[in-house]
Amino acid sequence: MTDSSLGATAPTSLIPASRGRVGDHPIFVLHAEATRRAAAGESIVNATLGALTTDEGTLAVLPSVLEAFADAQARGAAGYAPISGRPEFRRAVIDSLFAETPLADRAVAVATPGGTGAIYQAMVNFLEPGQRLLTTQYFWGPYRDISMHSGRGIDTFALFSADGGFDTAALAEGMERHAAEQGRVFLVMNFPCHNPTGYSLSPEEWDEVATVVRRVGARVPVTVLIDAAYLHYAGDGRDAWVPAAEAMLEAATVLVAWTASKAFTQYGSRTGALVALHRDDAERTQIANALGYTSRATWSNCSHVGQIAVTRLLTDPDLATRCDTERQALTDTLQQRIDVFKREATAAGLDFPRYDAGFFVAVFTPDAATTARVMREAGVYTVPIDGAVRVGLCCTPAADVPRLVEALVEGVAAVPAA
Ligand SMILES: Cc1ncc(COP(=O)(O)O)c(C=O)c1O
Repeated sequence: MTDSSLGATAPTSLIPASRGRVGDHPIFVLHAEATRRAAAGESIVNATLGALTTDEGTLAVLPSVLEAFADAQARGAAGYAPISGRPEFRRAVIDSLFAETPLADRAVAVATPGGTGAIYQAMVNFLEPGQRLLTTQYFWGPYRDISMHSGRGIDTFALFSADGGFDTAALAEGMERHAAEQGRVFLVMNFPCHNPTGYSLSPEEWDEVATVVRRVGARVPVTVLIDAAYLHYAGDGRDAWVPAAEAMLEAATVLVAWTASKAFTQYGSRTGALVALHRDDAERTQIANALGYTSRATWSNCSHVGQIAVTRLLTDPDLATRCDTERQALTDTLQQRIDVFKREATAAGLDFPRYDAGFFVAVFTPDAATTARVMREAGVYTVPIDGAVRVGLCCTPAADVPRLVEALVEGVAAVPAA
């Protein structure tokens, strides 16, 4: 209720830049609608969310992880964690990525609230206000929000070349342009298991990326952020980027956004880290201090319980083995869904990128809004993005995949010819 004695228009002290913003993520809005319809008794396939569910539709969790979190709480996680994170947590994350490679000794890390916090940390410390990050044409939407919110911006290069592989020429053109225009390049690479397309770079493609990065990095400061949110679901391709990261270090800073959200199915624990690799000792100290400062100036410190639990999950041999086995069972379930999808979608003539692993795949369509709308009318929910719809196999039981593919075919066919 407004007080009429105070005037006709409601006073506001919200600054202009913050007015008219969308407070919720569009994906959660679609998810809420799908959930409402299902609760009202309709048969719904909800392939919107980025969380792994069981075939019965419940959030998939790992018993070893639940045990580690309960135990961590009992071990005294009530106090503040150090601002940059517990040293043993930071070491455990670095070792989990780089043990037995020379990179383990060239890394520093800071704890963050999930991968999102790691991306924020990277953006505000390696890109000047007013400058733009460079990423693939299809990208995780919050990159844009984080960049805009922090006074930066976003620019893209074509992800796929005509033969369906990674478009190294487009990457090179984008990096050269940023080098010329802003004297600095901040490249975000969300591989393996790219969200939203499902694409993973081959070792040869990573080699080509490293060559471009070294060439541009010889002239201007270059930072490569590898958003490794889906790393643990990449199967054999999990470490395909590591030799390239080593090669890039000759001329660039390499950052890794690490998160427990998907790796340990602990989306709500907000446990993550930004790992920074640099060849120079003094520069690593500078970076570690800058990251600690940003933590202090934003969220102060991060989930203590998450850091204690994840440290144990990474370093206690019995717990780590149990956790890996449990995660493998989830990966197998996901792989069954992927296999059914690839078989059915290929037979139906749908257009989608190489997809071997990961939570999502994109199906190309000239009009994503129409395709997604027609699918919703048939009770099937996907996420429309520019040029494609994102399909979450992470939350679609294998038995529902044929219906999903059928709806995709109808949704793509509903787009009028140009
Ligand atoms: C590509 C990508 N990066 C980063 C994240 C960050 O996730 P979180 O902040 O939960 O760790 C997500 C989560 O959906 C993602 O899809």
